[in-house]
Amino acid sequence: MGAVVLPSLFEEQIEHDELQMARLHDYGAEGFAEAAGGYFPELEDYRLGPDVYLDTIAQAVRRLSIPLIASLNGSSSGGWVKYARLMQEAGAAAIELNIYHVATDPDADAAAVESRYIELVRAVRAEVTVPLAVKIHPFFSSLPNMAQKLARAGANGLVLFNRFMQPDIDLTTLKVGPNVELSTSTELRLPLRWIALLKGRVGVSFAATTGVHTANDVLKLLLAGADVTMMASALLKSGVAHPRSVLAGVTTWMEENDYTSVEQLKGSLSQANAPDPEQFERAQYMRALITYVNPNAG
Ligand SMILES: Cc1cc2nc3c(=O)[nH]c(=O)nc-3n(C[C@H](O)[C@H](O)[C@H](O)COP(=O)(O)O)c2cc1C
Repeated sequence: MGAVVLPSLFEEQIEHDELQMARLHDYGAEGFAEAAGGYFPELEDYRLGPDVYLDTIAQAVRRLSIPLIASLNGSSSGGWVKYARLMQEAGAAAIELNIYHVATDPDADAAAVESRYIELVRAVRAEVTVPLAVKIHPFFSSLPNMAQKLARAGANGLVLFNRFMQPDIDLTTLKVGPNVELSTSTELRLPLRWIALLKGRVGVSFAATTGVHTANDVLKLLLAGADVTMMASALLKSGVAHPRSVLAGVTTWMEENDYTSVEQLKGSLSQANAPDPEQFERAQYMRALITYVNPNAG
């Protein structure tokens, strides 16, 4: 079954709007005597960013025949997490919480960084009853332990992985800036490996994001243990009709290889089920280097 994830509503977007509104409210109250009598509407009445987002959910849900997942993107607990509840009330079938935190403080140890994630997941979990998926990056000392903690904090699914928009340096202007580069299938191996390693070890659903472009990409991830495969770059490159051809490719491969259901396929090559489980671990690093043959060598 397909589903659609909306672009994220960002913590900064919510807090910025609320701050702007509070300033406007204060200014108005000071500047106009009649303001005290209700000249300015309450904050909730402004139809700015977050409210437009909630409206979009409600409208999209009315028109879609597949579930709609709303996305919240932030890195700290706070009043903004109430938007998870508002998203559910607007009709979202699930919430994806994208925790986009770049740890830069040398005094914040791994435990402090991790507890920030856990607290945020708990806070959002407390707001909603619909399934909660948490999108994370791979840079934890122990990803399996972190995955387990997130599950215990209330995540029903993990979305692996966030693809950081890495800043670049422009040598002409000497400016530092992010530039969005779309992914390719070569980036698939990171989520592939970790889904294969985590499948069966942590009791959540796994969604793969980053590098999913073709039917082969989808098949590999399903074999590794993904419950969901997600596409962003592929849609931007090839258009919204692309999933249809990917689905056709998946179906053909399954028929040719005598699979009768996706369930049968799912996780059959995860580490727990693979005939050679070491393939997903470090032991293969040395073998890969030793057996490398340079195609350019004369
Ligand atoms: C233009 C663009 C906008 C994106 N916006 C969001 C967003 O709002 N929230 C989010 O969680 N991820 C966002 N992403 C990240 C994608 O959801 C996805 O995780 C990432 O691009 C890797 O998947 P892909 O290889 O299919 O592109 C965005 C990606 C692109 C290219």
